[in-house]
Amino acid sequence: MQNKWNKKGHLLPAGEVEATEEECVQYSACEWTQGVCHMKDSAGYRVVTLEKMEANITMFGGDIHSLLLEVISHEDYHVQIKISDPEQVRYEVPIPLQVPEVGGNDPWYSLNLPEAGHAFTLALTRTSTGTTMVETVGPLTYEDQFLQVHLRLPSTYLYGLGENMHATFRHSFTFRSTFPLFARDQPTFNGKQNEYGVHPYFMVFEDDQGTAHSLLLYNSNAMEYSTFMLDDGSAGITLRTTGGVLDFHILMGPHPDHILAQYTALVGRPLLPPYWSLGFGLSRWGYNSTAHVRQVVQRNRAAGVPQDVQTLDIDYMQDKRDFTIDPVSWPDLPQLVQELHNDGIKVVIIFDPAIATDFETYPPAIHGGEADAYVKWASEDLIPGDQCDGCRDYVVGRVWPGDTVFPDFFKPDTHQWWTQEITAFHQLVGFDGAWVDMNEPSSFGTNLYALRCPRNLWDDPPYPTHAALTTENLSGRLSDKTICMSSNHTDGNTTFLHYNVHSLYGWSHAKVTHSALQATLPGLRPLVLSRSTFPGSGRYTIHWLGDNFATWEQMRRSVIGMLEFNLFGIPMVGADICGFSGHPSAELCARWMQLGAFYPFSRNHNMEGFPDQDPAVWPQVADISRYVLQLRYQYLPYLYTLLYLAHTEGSGVVRPLLSHFPGDLKARDVDDQFLWGSGLMVAPVLEEGAITRDVYFPQGEWYDLVTGALVVSGPAQATVSAPLETLPLYLLGGAVLPFQYPAINTQQSRTNPLGLTVALDSNGTATGMLFWDDGEGNLVDGDIHISHYVFTQMELKGSVLETCSAAGSLALERVEVLGMWQEPKDVIINEVSQPTHLWTYNQNTTLLSITTNLPVGSDFNIVINI
Ligand code: GLC
Repeated sequence: MQNKWNKKGHLLPAGEVEATEEECVQYSACEWTQGVCHMKDSAGYRVVTLEKMEANITMFGGDIHSLLLEVISHEDYHVQIKISDPEQVRYEVPIPLQVPEVGGNDPWYSLNLPEAGHAFTLALTRTSTGTTMVETVGPLTYEDQFLQVHLRLPSTYLYGLGENMHATFRHSFTFRSTFPLFARDQPTFNGKQNEYGVHPYFMVFEDDQGTAHSLLLYNSNAMEYSTFMLDDGSAGITLRTTGGVLDFHILMGPHPDHILAQYTALVGRPLLPPYWSLGFGLSRWGYNSTAHVRQVVQRNRAAGVPQDVQTLDIDYMQDKRDFTIDPVSWPDLPQLVQELHNDGIKVVIIFDPAIATDFETYPPAIHGGEADAYVKWASEDLIPGDQCDGCRDYVVGRVWPGDTVFPDFFKPDTHQWWTQEITAFHQLVGFDGAWVDMNEPSSFGTNLYALRCPRNLWDDPPYPTHAALTTENLSGRLSDKTICMSSNHTDGNTTFLHYNVHSLYGWSHAKVTHSALQATLPGLRPLVLSRSTFPGSGRYTIHWLGDNFATWEQMRRSVIGMLEFNLFGIPMVGADICGFSGHPSAELCARWMQLGAFYPFSRNHNMEGFPDQDPAVWPQVADISRYVLQLRYQYLPYLYTLLYLAHTEGSGVVRPLLSHFPGDLKARDVDDQFLWGSGLMVAPVLEEGAITRDVYFPQGEWYDLVTGALVVSGPAQATVSAPLETLPLYLLGGAVLPFQYPAINTQQSRTNPLGLTVALDSNGTATGMLFWDDGEGNLVDGDIHISHYVFTQMELKGSVLETCSAAGSLALERVEVLGMWQEPKDVIINEVSQPTHLWTYNQNTTLLSITTNLPVGSDFNIVINI
C-alpha cells in the first residue's frame, strides 16, 4: 500500500468525508457505499483472542493478527482496558502510572463483549445508572503504525484533549474536526495545530445530572482525534495513534471534581509551588542588558505594582548558550540577582535543552560529551556525511545558538551532568527557579535548511497524522521543527526510538531539572516552568501556554487553555499576559492584566523586537494592574490553600463552572468565566471597548468581592457594569476565604495580618480552610499549619488541626461576614463581648466587619447576637 494522502489530508481513514471513491478503494479495508468511504465491517477483530477477521485486508499494512484484550479493575471507579500484541513486545509509555496493588472489588461498571466468534465491540456500562459510558463503533484497527478506535460518546459535553488551541472549552461536533497531538514548538494560532504538550485525555458527561467519566489513552506516539456526529445522531470520537499499544484508563467520577482527584492520583498529584511563585512576575525576551532589567523593575516598583519574580530569557547568555553570561551587556548578572533578592524579588532563569556543538571551547558541551549525554542516531549509517567535529553519532539540529545537540534526559549520565551544570551556574548566579523552554524538542529548519531526516518508516510512517499535514508544517513530515524520528534515546537499559518518546522530551527535561534544583537548593521546593508537558508533568513543573499573540481572541482563548490544564492536573498555569507577539493596546494590556491577575501563574512576557509591555509602560495600565494585583495578593493565602489541596487531595484550583455545578447545563458552556476553588468567580472582560459584560451566575448567593454586597441569587444571567478599571469578581455564599493584607511582594505580605472573608449561603452557613507553612521548604510532617473555619448558627469557629512556627507570629485581624441579613446587637469573641467600635455593620451591603486580634495558631469562636 502506497502512502495515499495529499497535503490537505484528503484521504483519511474511516469515513472522512473528503475521500473520493478512487482514493477510497485503494485501501482493501475500505469500501465505497452510498457516496461515502467506509471501513468494511470485516476489517476489525472478532472476540475471544481478538483475531483479525480477514487476514489480507488492511489500511497501511503491518496488521497484528491476534490481540490480547485485558480488562483490569484498579479501583471500583477505575478500569484499564488494554489491547496489546501477546506475541511481540511493543513500545509502551515508560512512565509508570500509580495504581494500587490490589484492584477494586466492587467495580462500578459492567462490560459487554459479543459472543465468541462475533465481530469485536466493547461497551462499558455504569451499573448505577445503566448508562453506556464507552462503546466502540465500527472496526478496530491495529496495525504496527496505525491504531484506530471509534467511540460513541454518551453526550456532546466533551472537554479536554490537548495541547491544542481550542475555540471553546466544550468540544464542537457540528463538523468533523480533527486535531493532532504531538509535541511541537507551535505558536498558538487560532487553527487546529498540535501545540507544545500532549494530553490524550478527555472528560465527558453522561447525563444531565452531572455524572461524568474521563478517558486517558496512555500512549505517546503521534496521535490525533476527531469529533463528529454518528449517523444515529450520537456524538462520536475517533482516536488514532501511530504506535505503541491501546491502553485506556477510564475514571468514573461520578462528578468532575472526583474525576480530577482520580486522575491526579493516577498520573501523580501536582507539586506545591513555592509561595513566591504565586506572586506576579515580569519577563520579556529582549531585555538588552542588566540596566534594562533594573529600569523595568524600578519603574514598576515606583508605580506600586507588586512584583515577586523576575524572569530572565536567553538575552543573558553569551551567544545564546546555556550556562554562560554575556560579558558585554550582562557582566554584572550575579550582582543584579543579588539586588533583586535584596528587594524581595526571586529570579527564574531560562535553560533551553539544546547545547551548542562547540566541543572545543564550550565547557558544558564538552562535559556533556564526556557524559555521552546526547540523543544519537538510531544507527551509524544514518550519521550525515558532513557531521561536525566532535559531534560523533549525535543528532545535530539548530536552535538559538546555531548548531546544537540535544541532551537525552532519559539517560542517568545526562541527569548527572545536567545537575552539575545547574549547580555550577547557580554558584555563579544564584537564581531561584528554572524555566525549561524549547523542549518539544524544538529544532529550526529541519528538512528545509538544517537537519535533514532520512527516509524510513519512522520518519515517514504510512499515516503521519495531521501533525504532518497541518499547513504550519512546512516540510510535511513529523520531524518538522524538531529532530528526526529515527533518533535514539536510552534510559541505560532500554533504547527508545524518538518516534515513540518524542512527546516525552519536555516531561523528561522538566523531571531532570526538578531533581537538579533539589540537589542545587537542598531543602527548598523547586520551581520549574516547562513549555512541553505530558500526563504526570504536574509533579515536576508548572506551565505557561506558549507563544501567543497580543489579540483579544487569544486573550479569550487563554481562559480555555488554563481550564484545560487544570483538567490535565497541571493547575499552576497561565498565558503570557498582554501577549507574546504583537503590540497590545493599553486597553488590551489592562484587560489582560486583570485576567492575568487571576491566572494561577501570573506573568507578563513578550517577544524580542516588540516594545516593553510591563504595566508601568502606561500610567493607566499601571494603576489598573496595581489595584487588581493587590486583590490577587490579598487572596494568595486562598490560592495557596487551593494549591495545597490540589497537591494532597487532587482538588481543583482554577475550576470551570461545570465542576462546581455539573448538573447545570448552562454552566457547562461557560468558558469565559472561572472559579478559584468554589468560593471566587472571575468574569474578565474579553472584548474590546466593552464596559459591561454578561455574567452567568449559577445557583447560590453571589456577592461582589469588593463591596461585599449581594449581587444576585442564582441561577441568573445579568449584565454587569465593568468599566476599564473594573474586573468583575464575585464570592459564592458558603465559602470562607482566608486573606492577607497585600504588599509589594510576598516576602512582605507574608508577615502581614490575615483576615477571613465569610460569604454566607442562604442557610447562613459557610466553610473554609487555611494552609500555611514557611512557603518554600519541603513539606515535612508537623511543619505545616491547617485550620478549618465553619460558620453556622451565627457562630464562626476556627479550629487548628496542626500548626507550625511560620504561622506562629501571624495574627487574624479582620473577619468580614457577607450576607449578614440583620444588624447584630453584640459580637462576642472567645466569650468576650466586643466594644462596638471594633465592629461595623453596613445595612445597605449587609456586610459585618469585625476587627479582631487572634493568633492564627489558636482555636477561636465568634458569636454574633442578633
Ligand atoms: C520561545 C519561548 C518564549 C521565549 C523565546 C526565547 O519562543 O516560548 O517564551 O521568549 O523562546 O527564549
